[in-house]
Amino acid sequence: MAVERTLSIIKPDAVAKNVIGQIESRFENAGLRLVAMKMVQLSREQAEGFYAEHKERPFFGDLVAFMTSGPVVVQVLEGENAVAQNRDLMGATNPKDAAAGTIRADFAQSIDENAVHGSDSATSAAREISYFFKEEELCDRIR
Ligand code: TYD
Ligand code: MG
Repeated sequence: MAVERTLSIIKPDAVAKNVIGQIESRFENAGLRLVAMKMVQLSREQAEGFYAEHKERPFFGDLVAFMTSGPVVVQVLEGENAVAQNRDLMGATNPKDAAAGTIRADFAQSIDENAVHGSDSATSAAREISYFFKEEELCDRIR
């Protein structure tokens, strides 16, 4: 498996709980490297565009309201099999179903406020990374 990149977001609930560092440690301990990161307050338009695939779902309005309720950390993780590795570290969408020791099991309260986002495929990762970052904002860590 080649080195790949994935988009990760630490959502407003986890930022409010002050566990950014604890979540980053999970990624670092798994061997994923941060190659870009920023804290941002998303606008409604940014959140709607990011989650456009869900715009017909009943939870879309609440999801956008939650994602704009406070600052988030938007970041790019790089490593072997980074998309799947990040999803494994995150755990299931609903923290009630998330395996013990995953980020969502340990830091999330509910399916709608579930601490982290992670790209679900290489195709999504490419779209999501370019949604938030310019190519020149992605740093080269392998050297
Ligand atoms: P989804 O892409 O299905 O999950 P994941 O974040 O694990 O890729 O859904 C995106 C977000 O939408 C999810 O993290 C939380 C929210 N959501 C709800 O609030 N209710 C739901 O029933 C679902 C499926 C998602
Ligand atoms: Mg998803």
